[in-house]
Amino acid sequence: MNDQSEFASSILHAIDGKLEQNQIEKLIEKPKNPDHGDLAFPCFSLAKMERKAPHLIAQELRSNITSSLFEKVEAAGGYVNAFLNKNTVARQVLSEIIQKKSAYGTQNIGNQGVVTIDMSSPNIAKPFSMGHLRSTVIGNSLALILEKCGFQPIKINYLGDWGTQFGKLIAAYKMWGNEQQVNEDPIKELLKLYIKFHEEAETNAELDEKGRKWFKRLEDGDEEALNLWKWFKEASLNEFNRIYKLLNIEFDSYNGEAYYNEKMDDTVKLLQKKGLLTESDQALVVELSDADLPPCLIKKSDGATLYATRDLTAAIDRKQRYDFVQSLYVVGHEQSLHFQQVIGVLKKMGFSWATSMTHVPFGMVLKDGKKMSTRKGKVVLLEDVLKESIEMAYQNISVKNPDLPDKETVAKQVGVGAIIFHDLKNDRMNDMDFSLKDMLRFEGETGPYVQYTNARARSVLRKGRYTPDETFAESFACTNKEWEIITLLKEFPDVIRRAQEQLDPSQIARYAISLARSFNKYYGHVKILKQDDCIKQRLTMVHAVTIVLQESLRLLGIDAPEEM
Ligand code: ARG
Repeated sequence: MNDQSEFASSILHAIDGKLEQNQIEKLIEKPKNPDHGDLAFPCFSLAKMERKAPHLIAQELRSNITSSLFEKVEAAGGYVNAFLNKNTVARQVLSEIIQKKSAYGTQNIGNQGVVTIDMSSPNIAKPFSMGHLRSTVIGNSLALILEKCGFQPIKINYLGDWGTQFGKLIAAYKMWGNEQQVNEDPIKELLKLYIKFHEEAETNAELDEKGRKWFKRLEDGDEEALNLWKWFKEASLNEFNRIYKLLNIEFDSYNGEAYYNEKMDDTVKLLQKKGLLTESDQALVVELSDADLPPCLIKKSDGATLYATRDLTAAIDRKQRYDFVQSLYVVGHEQSLHFQQVIGVLKKMGFSWATSMTHVPFGMVLKDGKKMSTRKGKVVLLEDVLKESIEMAYQNISVKNPDLPDKETVAKQVGVGAIIFHDLKNDRMNDMDFSLKDMLRFEGETGPYVQYTNARARSVLRKGRYTPDETFAESFACTNKEWEIITLLKEFPDVIRRAQEQLDPSQIARYAISLARSFNKYYGHVKILKQDDCIKQRLTMVHAVTIVLQESLRLLGIDAPEEM
C-alpha cells in the first residue's frame, strides 16, 4: 500500500463510511509547501455533506486518525495535514535502492506483452533529418521505459526505401552521376542529384517522364534499376549506421517500405473482398466519412500504390509476426491525419487490434525559429551536428578537468547525451529550437548537468571510501535537509509508471533534473564527508542518488560517465 492509500484508509476509519476509499484518495493533495506536511486532506466536501464548518471537521478527523506511518497529523483550517515519519520512509526507500540497485523502479505492468515501436525510419538517399533524430531518440527511450515496465519492445526501422523518388534519382544519376563521387560521400552526392533533378524539371517537362519510366522499370524488377537502387540503399544505410552507432541505438528490424512490395496486393484484395473500396477520380479509396476523416487513398489511377497502403500492409504483417499488445508509431505530428486514416481503415476491416495502435507524435525542430527543409538544400547534416557537439564537449571538459583520463570517450558520452537530453526534456509535442551551445552547458536543464552531478556524487563516494552496506540504511536518521532527496528517490517508480502510461520520456528527464538539483543543494549545504557518526548513512544516500540518476539517464538512452 502506498502512503496515499494508507492515509486515505485511516481517514476512512475516522469518518465511518461517509465517503469511499477511492473518493478520499482522489481528494488527497500533495502540498507544495513542506510546512503543510506530505499529504493533505481537504475537508470541504465532507463539510458540505455534514453542514458543518470545514475547520471543525478537520479538528475532529485529526484526533481520530491513528497510523504509524505518520509522525504528526495536524488540523490547519479546512485541511488535515499529515507528516510522514521521515526515518521510517527514508530507511525503507534507501534499503530498497541499495538492495535492488539498477532494478529499483522495475515493475511488471506489461506481463511481457510485445510492443512494436516504429521509429527512426529515415528515407534512403536523403539526409537523416532532425525529425528522424527525434523519432530515434524518443522511440529508443520509450523502448527502455517499456522494458523497465515489463513489456517486450520491438524496435522497427521502417526505412523509406521505395517510391517514385527513386525513379527520379536513378534518372538523375544516369544523366549526371559519378560513381566515385557517390561512393565517397553518398548522401551529399545523391541529394545534389535529387535537387538538380527538381531544378531542371521546372523548365524541362521530359525529366519527370524519365523519372516515371525508371520507377516503372524498378517496379518491374529491371536489373539495372534494381542494382542502382540497392547500391543507393546500402550506401545510405552505411551512413545512417554511423549515426546509430554514435547514438548507441540498435534495431530489431529494418523492414522498410520496399519489404512490403509483394504483400500489397493481398491488402488491396482483402479491402476489395470486404467491400470497402470505392472509385473516386479513377483512384481507389476507402471512405471514412463516418469517422469524420477524408477518404484514404489506396491505389492511384495509374495503379501505383501509396504510403497508406504500405502502412496498412505493414500493420497487418506486424500483428501476425509479433502479436503485439500495443503498436506505436513515433512520427512527427504532421503525419497525424495519415495515421488516423490508417487506423480508421483497419477498424473498418474488422481488426479489433487496430485500437492498440498509437501514433506518438512530436513537434518540429526549428533553427532560429524556422523549419528546416531538405528540398531547398537548407539542411543540417546530423552527423556533423553530433560531431560538433562531441568536439565542443571535448573543449569544455579539457578546460574543466584537464587531467581526466580518456577524454575522448567522455566527450562522446557528454556531447551525444546533451543532444538526446535536450530532445527528451520537453513535452514531445512542442517544437524545439536547436542550439548546441545551450545544450552543452553544465548548468541548467541539460544532459551534461545531470551527468556532471552524478560524476560529482560518485567522486564523493570515492573520497569517502564508501562500500555499499544495507545496514547503514537501516539506521538512517533523516533531517529536513535529506528529506527532499528522500521523497524524490521514493517517487522514482511512480515517475517511470507515468512515463510509460503517457508514452512520455520527458517525465524522466525532468525528474532527473529535480533530483540533480536537489542533490547539488544538499552538497552545497552539508559537509557530506565530515567524519562524524552519520557519515556512512549520508554516503548511503549519496550512493542511492547515483543509482537513481544513472538509471534515469539509462532510460533516456544516455551514458553516465564516472568522472568528467
Ligand atoms: N519515412 C517517413 C518519413 O521520413 C517516416 C515513416 C514513418 N513510419 C510509418 N510507418 N509511416 O517521413
